[in-house]
Amino acid sequence: MKKDLLKLTELSREEIFTILDLADQLKYDVKNGIPHRQLEGKVLAMVFAKNSTRTRASFETGMFQLGGHAIYLTAADTQAGRGEPVKDTARALSRYCDGIMVRTFDQRELEELARYATVPVINGMTDSAHPCQALSALMTIREEKALLDGLKLCYVGDGNNVCSSLIVGCLKVGMEVSVACPEGYEPPREVLEFAEDFGDRFRMFRDPREAVRNADVVYTDVWVSMGKEDEAAERDRVFSGTYQLSEELLSGAKENAMVLHCLPAHRGQEITDAVMEAHAKEIFEEAENRLHAQKAVLCLLMGA
Ligand code: CP
Ligand code: NVA
Repeated sequence: MKKDLLKLTELSREEIFTILDLADQLKYDVKNGIPHRQLEGKVLAMVFAKNSTRTRASFETGMFQLGGHAIYLTAADTQAGRGEPVKDTARALSRYCDGIMVRTFDQRELEELARYATVPVINGMTDSAHPCQALSALMTIREEKALLDGLKLCYVGDGNNVCSSLIVGCLKVGMEVSVACPEGYEPPREVLEFAEDFGDRFRMFRDPREAVRNADVVYTDVWVSMGKEDEAAERDRVFSGTYQLSEELLSGAKENAMVLHCLPAHRGQEITDAVMEAHAKEIFEEAENRLHAQKAVLCLLMGA
């Protein structure tokens, strides 16, 4: 594996499966009281420039369970918030910590930090990618369906960070992906170019009813990601009425289709309350799997 986990395009199919297999093992260990203190004495710095519930709680808990420690830093309260260059933050944190997890806006900022950090850097979500979320989704799907190869995931909504990482992750492990999004809200060009190499295994639609056909997994995320709040009214107008996981829309997917959401969910917008509650079991299994998948990443990047 490379030094850092910045986006899934950098991982091979084999590396993704290595993470998923270790995540399954670590989940088994923690549930059966089997000690797994692979990161005894190690420290992870967690730098957040955006809000978080799951990412913070799962990384911090994960480090604790692995015998290490995590430091929570809000970007605004660090000297970075007063203009200290990213490259200096990277070099200073590298002198104390064994790894750095970052949630920020611009992927280039994360990449600059990783370039200057001498310790592994993990993407805890940027505007462009949410690799840990996609790994947890793959883990959750494999737990339920036993295999990933040949399954079809349909993503309905904004072609955002979560959508981008799902496209890359699912295609790499042999799945089919369909995406339904409104004009102007497609995934970024570099993700579409990546997907082009997979031929018919990737398809874009405007109409979610066409995209969900024959889907094994239907995924959605918020219409308004963090940082896009000033576009909320316009996005509400564009997505409303069409890009919502409702019982009616899901009736077009496979009968036993899973429904997943990275959370937090906005009921009445991208998902109805009824669908959210009917599929809460798998949605919160994915939330739990953030812990296990990230522990696997931490072990592989920061372990001996
Ligand atoms: N899905 C996810 O990353 O959740 P948080 O924003 O709560 O960390
Ligand atoms: N797309 C959302 C995901 C939050 C976990 C955002 O970027 O805000």
